[in-house]
Parts: sequence; C-alpha cells; structure tokens
Amino acid sequence: MSVTPIKPVKRVTVHTLEEMKQRGEKISMLTAYDFSLAKIVDDANIDVILVGDSASNVMAGHETTLPITLDQMIYHASSVIRAVKRALVVVDLPFGSYQGNSKEALNSSIRIMKESGAHAIKLEGGEEVTESVKRIISAGVPVMGHLGLTPQSIYKFGTYAVRAVEKEEADKLLRDAKILEDAGCFALVLEKIPAELATQVAQMLTIPVIGIGAGSGVDGQVLVLHDMLGINKDFSPRFMRRYLNLYEEIKTGVEQYISDVKAKDFPNEGEQY
Ligand code: KIV
Repeated sequence: MSVTPIKPVKRVTVHTLEEMKQRGEKISMLTAYDFSLAKIVDDANIDVILVGDSASNVMAGHETTLPITLDQMIYHASSVIRAVKRALVVVDLPFGSYQGNSKEALNSSIRIMKESGAHAIKLEGGEEVTESVKRIISAGVPVMGHLGLTPQSIYKFGTYAVRAVEKEEADKLLRDAKILEDAGCFALVLEKIPAELATQVAQMLTIPVIGIGAGSGVDGQVLVLHDMLGINKDFSPRFMRRYLNLYEEIKTGVEQYISDVKAKDFPNEGEQY
C-alpha cells in the first residue's frame, strides 16, 4: 500500500510579502477575530490575516476602535492563531497601548507576541511613532505601519472622510511613508486616500503597500471580513465590495429554524435518539 505524503503548508512570512511585491503578485489581506472564521479564511489561502482593532466595532458593537483593550486584542489574536496554518497573522496595537512612549509600545508588542503567538504587530501614525517602531523592531518584532485615515484619531479628524486630499497633508503622508520604511516597517497600510497618491507611495517604497479605499495601484488589498461577507449590512462605503449577503442568509436560516420549532417539525424522528 502506498502512502501519499502530506505536503507541509508553506507559511507566509514578511519575506514572502517582500518577494510578492518584487514579482508584482498582489497581496490579499482580510481581518478575522475568532477561531471559526479565521479557519475558513486561512483554508481559502489568504496571505495575511489582520486581527484589527475594528474588532471593537464588529465584535463588540462600539462606535469607534478606541475602547478595545490590549487584553481583548490578545484574546482575539489567540483565537485566530489557533486556527491558522498558512497566513501571516498581524495584530493591531490598540489605542492607548503604545502612544505613551516607546517602552510602553515595546511592552504591549511583547505581550501580544508572547501571549497570542502572533507573527507581527500594526500601529497607526507616522513620524511621531518612529522611535516606537525602531524599538519594537529591535526586539525582533515585525511592524506594519498604517497611514491615511487612522481610525484611532477619529476625534482629531472629526470625520471618516477621505484623507490627504490637500497638498499639505499629501506631502506629510509621503514623508511619513518614507520615514516608516526607513525605520524598518515590513509593510504599510494606506486607508481611504486618493488612488493617485497611494500609487505614488507604492512606487516610492520597496516594502509592500496594502490599501483599503486607496485604489488599485498598490501592492495588495485589505477589507474587513464582516463587511465584505455582508454580515454587517449598515456599512457600505464606496471602496467596499460585498461578495455575499450573509446578513440575509443567516436571518433566513434563523427564521426557518424558529418556524420549524414552533411547528413541532424540528426535531423529527431521524433527529432524535
Ligand atoms: O482594524 C482594522 O480592521 C484595520 C483595517 C481597516 C486596515 O486597521
């Protein structure tokens, strides 16, 4: 009897992403916050899973990303890590866990890496977080940057509108992008900025640039899983493509179950002992 050897899964690393940019292969990235959905996303061969602080909105129902805590992010990240065999798992440093100083940023990153088993962290901001970025990387933790619409600063912006439309802000974003690359970031997320500016950043940098609402000229795309699956039907910005309408599908299934229970149709003879 011949036994077919099981092929080991080749894990995505920060170097894989660098190589993908070099050969012009687009990077796919989605959020996940729990074991069951992370398993499906990983089995589908996504390149990067982001345990985003958007869990604050999507999982906990908060209006902003600000309330989620470091302990809660570690809980979500640990659940995702237990499901993932292939993807690179990046975890957001939540608001208040890194802005104080670079020592605080390092300690928060170490907690995420040690307690969840994640592969990298992401933080928001440009020049003002450079010292933290360098300190985290010097401890061996890969860092992904995030510029443009940075939701942790929503009360400073006052709106979720497109960022860096004016020249002054666009110039600052270009400077910040270069600073983050020079500080050692392995990739950069650009959120909700003009496509032309995002393309310019992607062409200027050697590290991969991953966009959300930043057009097609970047090196990869990221979306919030619950938005693109249509679980969350109340959020539909122009940049979002909805691949399924799971809100309706799940609701229909639940309605059918209720109706079967009320009609004494469930369980039937074959569904009992
Ligand atoms: O938290 C998140 O989901 C994110 C993405 C929108 C990039 O940061």
